[in-house]
Amino acid sequence: MLIDGRAGRLSLISLLLAVSIGLLSDVVCSYVRPPPREIIFVKQSGDADSDTTPQQVHISQVGQDKMRISWITESPTPAKLEYGTSPGAYRFSATGTTSSYRYLMYNSGEIHDVDIGPLNPNTHYYYRLGDSAKQYNFKTPPSRLPVKLAVAGDLGQTEWTRSTLQHIGDSNYDMLLLPGDLSYADDVQSLWDSFGRLVEPLASQRPWMVTQGNHEVEKIPLFHRKPFTAYNARWRMPFEESGSDSNLYYSFDVATVHVIMLGSYADFAPHSAQYKWLEGDLNKVDREKTPWILVLIHAPWYNSNTAHQGEIQSIAMKAAMEDLLYRARVDLVFAGHVHAYERFTRVYKDKADSCGPVHVTIGDGGNREGLATRYIDPKPEISMFREASFGHGILEVVNATHALWTWHRNDDNEPVATDSVWLTSSSSFPACKL
Ligand SMILES: [Fe+2]
Repeated sequence: MLIDGRAGRLSLISLLLAVSIGLLSDVVCSYVRPPPREIIFVKQSGDADSDTTPQQVHISQVGQDKMRISWITESPTPAKLEYGTSPGAYRFSATGTTSSYRYLMYNSGEIHDVDIGPLNPNTHYYYRLGDSAKQYNFKTPPSRLPVKLAVAGDLGQTEWTRSTLQHIGDSNYDMLLLPGDLSYADDVQSLWDSFGRLVEPLASQRPWMVTQGNHEVEKIPLFHRKPFTAYNARWRMPFEESGSDSNLYYSFDVATVHVIMLGSYADFAPHSAQYKWLEGDLNKVDREKTPWILVLIHAPWYNSNTAHQGEIQSIAMKAAMEDLLYRARVDLVFAGHVHAYERFTRVYKDKADSCGPVHVTIGDGGNREGLATRYIDPKPEISMFREASFGHGILEVVNATHALWTWHRNDDNEPVATDSVWLTSSSSFPACKL
């Protein structure tokens, strides 16, 4: 570990303080946590020559072979783009839709969404937006395994976020899965714009598939009653394609992995629209075609950190939906919300169960609220690894039966593989056959 002079002294003081008041968890003794980093705000770049210059570009997978390109301009301009498989040669063009929203005194820019395809799998595409000459590029995910999925929640906008993004960008990942809490705008809408600019270098090159957290709700009594206004306008996910009636929950397949994005802040009670949709979605899964099932939520159902204990989105959602996930033999559940990392064994109803999903909390993207450093002691037997550090995870699904999960801690400026485990798909366990 590299520790420079002032940061090193601060880390040492922090460590001594933590030891003296007994706050160290059982796994951080060998690790000196670096100090907090600055909050950042990303302005529109200086080379933006007009108010129709594209900004905040991000892409998301739509169906099996399409991609949605989303971007924002200050002023109205047609939602059109050109694309192709060679740099500078755009054989195809497409048009889409434009929307905008108002939030208190803030008027958003023009939000453009254009779906393109059919696209070839595992292929680089080059594109330009509107009348801009700037060229962007992305790579489509493979249609078959292996596939490399990056996972990071609760990103926010700090220098730690930047570090997490750098590490994810260097990982040669195929798609990012984000279990909620994106910008931490918290009603200050210009922070959504800043977040869009911060993530553009990555999010314009690989599909970012997100679900919502509590920081996306942005409801103000009397002044702005409608929830998720900015989130739904800026991050329009492909919910219609999976039969969902809401941007807050949906599913898709990537390289024979079925991914389900649930809404911890949408109604999840039995017989709610989300519950019925989830039940129908799981019933449609064919494990011969998609041998792996992943689920993303925001508030964790399993959590031995002292943060966010007892919240309804954890307790009541688990009570309502855990049976559905268990009966469908879901492999992994990723959650955010708690700003730390924790991996459980396969569990069901609070006990180890080889047919239940592995639960992972990965709300450690780097946001301004800092880390959740206190854990419940003793560590529950079902909790296999826990540590309060910023970082990200990589799930390499190798084939129908095996996947490698690795959690990378942000150690100063380096990603350090700190927790790594091979997982076997529950669909391949004879004892768990349905
Ligand atoms: Fe949260």
